[in-house]
Amino acid sequence: MLVFTAAGKGGAGQTVTGCNMAYQLALKGEDVAYLDFDFGRPSAGATFDIDAAARGVTRDGVRSFLLGGGPRPVVLDVATRTAGAALRNRPPGAGRLVLLPGDRGARWFGRTAEIVQRCSELFLRTESEYSVTVVDLGSGRTVAVDLVLEVMARPEMRNIVARWLVVHQWTRLHVDAAGDFVHGPSGLLDTARHTGLDPAAVERALRFVRCIVADKASLGRFGQVAQQAWQAEMDAELRNFAAEQQLGIGAVLGTVPFDPVLKLREQIITGFDVASVQIARQDTVEAYASLARRLSDHQAWETL
Ligand SMILES: Nc1ncnc2c1ncn2[C@@H]1O[C@H](COP(=O)(O)OP(=O)(O)OP(=O)(O)O)[C@@H](O)[C@H]1O
Ligand SMILES: [Mg+2]
Repeated sequence: MLVFTAAGKGGAGQTVTGCNMAYQLALKGEDVAYLDFDFGRPSAGATFDIDAAARGVTRDGVRSFLLGGGPRPVVLDVATRTAGAALRNRPPGAGRLVLLPGDRGARWFGRTAEIVQRCSELFLRTESEYSVTVVDLGSGRTVAVDLVLEVMARPEMRNIVARWLVVHQWTRLHVDAAGDFVHGPSGLLDTARHTGLDPAAVERALRFVRCIVADKASLGRFGQVAQQAWQAEMDAELRNFAAEQQLGIGAVLGTVPFDPVLKLREQIITGFDVASVQIARQDTVEAYASLARRLSDHQAWETL
């Protein structure tokens, strides 16, 4: 399965959510490849705590490969390359988790037939070696979005299961940007149509993820009655607004709460962080695990 993660606006939480979901998929026994297609500022290496790829790699990243640099992009095994002690510990039954890192430094490029061909080969290869390929497309309408749409329109991709996760924060501007990114003029669905894909099929394969949600456990603590009433009112307003933007609950795969650990540091939250050192929220891990479950369980995906 190919999973494209995207966002309408920068800083939505897409990379941290995608990396944590990939980790939970691996814990469930899936073999997972995470491809960093953020050609501006790749950050999955830092999130997985892999020093050599913290700002992207200096050679053989996915962009170099797509631009014709070498026969294969570098593949980093997270459990052996990470500096995070808890991540190195792979429990029995867990699948492999690898990162195909981005290249260091921003560089934008136009699509050529050769780049599209290489991208198609890359997806087919990871599809044959891993059960799930997560592709981090960066934020907004980037060259990565246009590239993968063009690849998915090709005949050799017809039998590949593809899913789209659009991550957004639970605020007015983020909801608005995510709605625009998908449904707006020149948005994802429009572009899909122009590329020769069926926009209705893309929409059926697309869900939103509400991220960094200030829930009761993170907000309610302030405790004042007036604050709580205001927060409930704002939340209801946001829910209405999201429904108007076609981001209503029927199109949502899951919700990730605000976690103080992730406010301070982009990282994977492990069971160790929750149970042993007790710095992270159990709810956060459960949210990522639930995303992983709903994504890989066909029935759970369909019955949202
Ligand atoms: N559940 C959460 N609770 C608190 N902070 C979070 C949560 N998820 C992500 N963050 C923080 O929000 C910031 C943005 O997250 P992230 O880098 O994943 O977003 P992005 O959409 O990938 O951004 P970019 O546009 O740079 O690619 C990071 O500092 C991250 O640690
Ligand atoms: Mg990112």
